[in-house]
Amino acid sequence: MKVIEKVSEMQNWSERERCAGKRIVLVPTMGFLHEGHLSLVREGRKRGDLLVVSLFVNPKQFAPGEDYKNYPRDLERDRKLLERESADVLLRPSVEEVYPEGHQTHVEVERLDQFLCGAFRPGHFRGVVTMVAKLFNIVRPHVAIFGLKDYQQFQMIRRMTADLNFDIEVVGHPIVRETDGLAMSSRNTYLNEPERGAALCLYRSLRKAESLVRRGERQGKPILDAVRQEIGKISLARIEYVHLCHPSSLEEVEKIDDEALLALAVWIGKARLIDNTIFKA
Ligand code: PAJ
Repeated sequence: MKVIEKVSEMQNWSERERCAGKRIVLVPTMGFLHEGHLSLVREGRKRGDLLVVSLFVNPKQFAPGEDYKNYPRDLERDRKLLERESADVLLRPSVEEVYPEGHQTHVEVERLDQFLCGAFRPGHFRGVVTMVAKLFNIVRPHVAIFGLKDYQQFQMIRRMTADLNFDIEVVGHPIVRETDGLAMSSRNTYLNEPERGAALCLYRSLRKAESLVRRGERQGKPILDAVRQEIGKISLARIEYVHLCHPSSLEEVEKIDDEALLALAVWIGKARLIDNTIFKA
């Protein structure tokens, strides 16, 4: 596995491989890899000839006071995991390489930013989408893979890719969970033992909503009430939002017509956890 730290070296590598007719797949990450990331990597392997995994904790997507400084990092472990998955390139630029002195251009996806996490984390998605647009120009992939756990992020990247005419196929990959149902996340390491138990209320509440829908419920209110009630049983949990919305516009819906996304963000201790599920009527 080649480790690349410089933007120009990455661009030259891609140019050479594109000219040789190779199909390049990109999996962007912030590292501290878990099975969720690795399932994206394995999907990536299947979708092209060469696999690039980027590892960059992007300061621009953390607001002041968020966990940028404490975000978990373990480069050696990540490198070994990616070697085992036979990634071709690990791209790990420094902050100075990505945002040299004078950087001042940003990408905003205006409407989609107003909902869900966007409403609670001002500037977060501006940082995410700017970074991903830069990665698209640095790596020039044919395909890029994102997890549906960060559902809003996935939709915004799709939108940005279309709006800015990037000739890149953006693929969404299903949520990978621990055996007890907790969605995998680098931030799960923030949970102590009682909090780890409490965190299961996200998954439980989604399953409860799914069983209501299976039994024929289509109205949003009873579904949202059931989710809130399930999470409300856990004293360590604090709901940030629970929303039922259209899966691509993310506009709130009052009932499930065709498809709907149920998305939630819940604080457990100092960990902000998100999860979601999609209902098909
Ligand atoms: P990060 O949180 O490291 O996640 C990298 C990718 O892994 C994202 O596409 C995310 O949705 C996916 N992922 C994380 N946990 C997952 C799970 N349990 N199941 C499936 N996929 C999962 O998301 C980011 O980094 C950054 O915002 C980034 C896109 C790299 C831009 O900086």
